[in-house]
Amino acid sequence: MASANLNIMIKAARKAGRSLVKDFREVENLQVSVKGAGDFVSRADREAERIIKEELRTARPNYGWIGEETGEDAGEDPTRRWIVDPLDGTTNFLHGLPHWAVSIALEHKGEIVAAVIFDAAKDEMFTAEKGDGAFLNDRRIRVSGRRQMIESIFATGVPFGGRGTLPATIRDLSRLMPLTAGVRRWGAASLDLAYVACGRFDGYWERGINSWDVAAGVLLVREAGGFVESIKPDQSPVESGQIIAANAQQFDGFAEIIRSRD
Ligand code: IPD
Repeated sequence: MASANLNIMIKAARKAGRSLVKDFREVENLQVSVKGAGDFVSRADREAERIIKEELRTARPNYGWIGEETGEDAGEDPTRRWIVDPLDGTTNFLHGLPHWAVSIALEHKGEIVAAVIFDAAKDEMFTAEKGDGAFLNDRRIRVSGRRQMIESIFATGVPFGGRGTLPATIRDLSRLMPLTAGVRRWGAASLDLAYVACGRFDGYWERGINSWDVAAGVLLVREAGGFVESIKPDQSPVESGQIIAANAQQFDGFAEIIRSRD
């Protein structure tokens, strides 16, 4: 049974999702501003973050907060904080591509303990709690059982502006593409991880990613039986900005390719 915190997160994600779906139909009226190369924010992102903050703050006034649009805000309880991307996949959203999601994670003493990723356009609600498994619309999900790279699909992302990571990602691609059934770059990191968790993708990696894009997805993949680490060994996959995730059978081989420097 879902905990009270997870129910609060689901409610907030659904409410924000409804607002985003409405805005998605009227993308041309969204007052888009450009934060940097390929880095957009619109009324839709801001409104979704406002809705989520209001819901979570009303229910748990003392928890801390970090959100893509409103930044960090320490709460009275230093052990717990929400990590929120109100609209992951903003560029897809603004181009009318139905591949974006709301991502909400709850961190307790530095560990992600509950996660919600809501793909409102497809009505897919991914949820997980530590020790309790991962679910898609209340049905248990697991990572894929594929053992061979040649039959597997991997996903990646390239942060807007590249953030200096482009040469390494191009090198990764030139190594991986001949060995796999394909590499996808779909533009929403939270969904890349959710898709690893439910076995649609077999692995995912990204260099230069933000904590709010991946915090919820990290727990989903682990609770679905997959492995997640930072590309930089011994660092946090949520905080280091370098992430690699895969099903259990393929993680080591995949990680070796992504981590090798020559
Ligand atoms: C972006 C997406 C994209 C990833 C970028 C992120 P945003 O998040 O997750 O897939 O490649 O690094 O910044 O900006 O749409 O919330």
